[in-house]
Amino acid sequence: MKFFVDTAEIDAIAELNDLGMVDGVTTNPSLIMKSGRDILEVTKEICDLVAGPVSAEVVATEAEAMIAEGRKLAEIAGNIAVKVPLTWDGLKACKVLSGEGRMVNVTLCFSANQAILAAKAGATFISPFIGRLDDINLDGMQLIEDIRTIYDNYGYETQILAASIRTVNHITESARIGADVITAPPAVIKAMAAHPLTDKGLAAFMADWAKTGQKIL
Ligand code: E4P
Repeated sequence: MKFFVDTAEIDAIAELNDLGMVDGVTTNPSLIMKSGRDILEVTKEICDLVAGPVSAEVVATEAEAMIAEGRKLAEIAGNIAVKVPLTWDGLKACKVLSGEGRMVNVTLCFSANQAILAAKAGATFISPFIGRLDDINLDGMQLIEDIRTIYDNYGYETQILAASIRTVNHITESARIGADVITAPPAVIKAMAAHPLTDKGLAAFMADWAKTGQKIL
């Protein structure tokens, strides 16, 4: 399973990247806003740091303008994946940009039908938003499962990029279902290392070790 980091914070990306935990990065207009950085500058820095796909999102809503923005974003670096929303215009832009050999991440996917359209339009990645479905009492994980089944039924090569991940359980379930990629905030990826029995066991080992009076170094 590939790990993308869902942030535009350079330090957080660098920390995980040094551990080999980063296969790519996803950003969106809200994350750029939170970073307080210029989109072109910060995206270039991310692309210099990370070898894998870096998603940068268009902000136009009409196909022609999305295509123009996508081409400009793709000039930043060879590893840019142009992110377009799952609208009819977004699908048109996806078809054109993917036809030019660019990676395209179709975002804001909330249904299996939308995912089918994205695959047919040549998307490299489809981003179903788990957390935002859960927020309105729908089942985000069920959507990941449905898309996995459908893509496997027809051999679609579009990669399922499980997005809007809020908990470590979303990552476990995405892995169990067979999502190709997850994108999660750095804090959620780091939380995967935590387990209360690890903390309890380590505390007991440390207490016993202190009683030995020994040192290793
Ligand atoms: C994915 O590409 C999006 O940037 C992200 O996962 C959205 O997550 P949110 O619903 O927590 O904002």
